[in-house]
Amino acid sequence: MLLCGKMRVFLPILIAFVIVKDSWEVTKIKTDPATLPTFISSSQVFKVKDQDTIVLPCEVANPGPYVLVWKRGIAVLSAGSTLVSPDPRVALNPDYSLEIKEVGPQDAGDYVCQIGTLEPREITHTVEILVPPRIHYVTSNGRVEVKKGSTVRLECKASGNPVPKVTWSRKNNLLPGGEQTTTTPILTLDKVDRHQAGIYQCVASNGVGDDVKEQIFLHVLYPPEITVERPVVYSGEGLEAQLVCIVHGESQPEVLWYRDTMQLDTTERRIMESRGSRHTLVIRKVNRQDFGNYTCVADNQLGKTRKSIQLTGKPHPAKFNSPSTGRYKENYNISWQVESLSPVEEYKLLYRRLPDIGVTSDNQPQPLHHQSLKKFSSKGENKTSFSTNGFVYSRPTKDRRLEWRDVILPASPIQPAGLQSMSYIIRGLEGGQQYEARVQARNKFGWSPVSDSFTFKTTETDESTTDNRRMFHEHTSEDVQSIRSYKNSGTNLLRGNSLTSLAIYSVCILLLQH
Ligand SMILES: *[C@@H]1O[C@H](CO)[C@@H](O)[C@H](O)[C@H]1NC(C)=O
Ligand SMILES: *[C@@H]1O[C@H](CO)[C@@H](O)[C@H](O)[C@H]1NC(C)=O
Ligand SMILES: *[C@@H]1O[C@H](CO)[C@@H](O)[C@H](O)[C@H]1NC(C)=O
Repeated sequence: MLLCGKMRVFLPILIAFVIVKDSWEVTKIKTDPATLPTFISSSQVFKVKDQDTIVLPCEVANPGPYVLVWKRGIAVLSAGSTLVSPDPRVALNPDYSLEIKEVGPQDAGDYVCQIGTLEPREITHTVEILVPPRIHYVTSNGRVEVKKGSTVRLECKASGNPVPKVTWSRKNNLLPGGEQTTTTPILTLDKVDRHQAGIYQCVASNGVGDDVKEQIFLHVLYPPEITVERPVVYSGEGLEAQLVCIVHGESQPEVLWYRDTMQLDTTERRIMESRGSRHTLVIRKVNRQDFGNYTCVADNQLGKTRKSIQLTGKPHPAKFNSPSTGRYKENYNISWQVESLSPVEEYKLLYRRLPDIGVTSDNQPQPLHHQSLKKFSSKGENKTSFSTNGFVYSRPTKDRRLEWRDVILPASPIQPAGLQSMSYIIRGLEGGQQYEARVQARNKFGWSPVSDSFTFKTTETDESTTDNRRMFHEHTSEDVQSIRSYKNSGTNLLRGNSLTSLAIYSVCILLLQH
């Protein structure tokens, strides 16, 4: 090792010896500071691109007999007019500038031009080799597959001089953080789901040459996810029905359809279609037996998911369309529309006065299905007391005017299938009060869901008394099959027990007058 080191320094020492010896000769001649050589060139930093040619100047005034030497570290490149460097890319020009062709990163560093006076004088050029960016590593060679919920690190390692910046973007999408781009060598994605899947792009740039880019395909494996287009599909006999499940999953899930627990096959009337993520069960010419509960089941190696869709012939929930403020004090003309693919046969209208502001009421809208009447009438019996920690408290007596009332209305005349309209004049209201109403429609397949709640107001005074009187006199008992308070009745009036109806009707009239 020692020997080796000696070999390396042997040549420079020899040259240095020559220089020192020359200087010695020179200094023997009387040194006059005015005739000493001085540098015209000054120390500089050179930034050059890879493979370019560089010329390092070393211009000296009054060179005299002194020897100029180019050095790099301890290596001497030239001495006087002698090129010492064996590198064929290095040349010494007549003006003593040093020329290096086809520079590469190995040429970066300090180059010293020295004048061999007794006290050596020198300038130092620094050479930086600019290297365009290069990406030499991307995570998993650009194909990353992970399970939903995992954390993913996407990396692009780039080299170059200066050190390149790595900027991430996503093809046709924003980054998961919502940005267009982000500059970081490693992009970390937490709890990935299908929304983060796609193509990620890293661009390395350092201002030298062209930017370079690479892509990473991120696949996120996840169990099937289903959304149903409509959880309830309203249809009618002889019509076509489409039940749609939107299914996402990676890998591609297999989708099957069930009616209750029975798997469905394609038949002439029943077709299963898939277009992309959209899976449709088409039932042509629906018949009565087709109404019911259908389920789409999606399966891949990560799991199985199901969603149900009801196919029904019942009417849609009704929508009220009367103005929120009536024209009269005691009457209100309430109207609504119902979409039904079979004619609506009857309606049930529910309404109640809302408590004045500041007065609380625990009256809840009751379920309207007739089969549930029994349930809530028995619940009603316990309404006036409740128990907490074993004690029984008495409720303050309820304001009967706040209780729900309902009216059964025949749809007359029966309108054809489609959008059906209905109106009804609610009488015996209090002036300047807020009321809440809900309605249900029945066709031959049963009762629709209860409509959303609708609120309306009666006026403080009548707009026109004559109008109002006329409306009042039009009031006949035929248009009202029943008016009652749920609290007072558990009888199913739909069965048409006219005697009971009459009795309750009378009670209600009494209540209303009260
Ligand atoms: C429909 O069927 C599915 C699966 O059999 C069941 O989970 C769901 O509760 C059913 N829905 C109704 C409304 O019956
Ligand atoms: C009640 O309103 C409906 C719908 O707006 C309308 O057709 C009907 O004529 C009104 N009835 C009366 C008595 O004003
Ligand atoms: C309601 O009252 C009935 C009979 O009085 C009783 O059997 C039942 O336990 C009560 N229910 C509640 C919830 O208090």
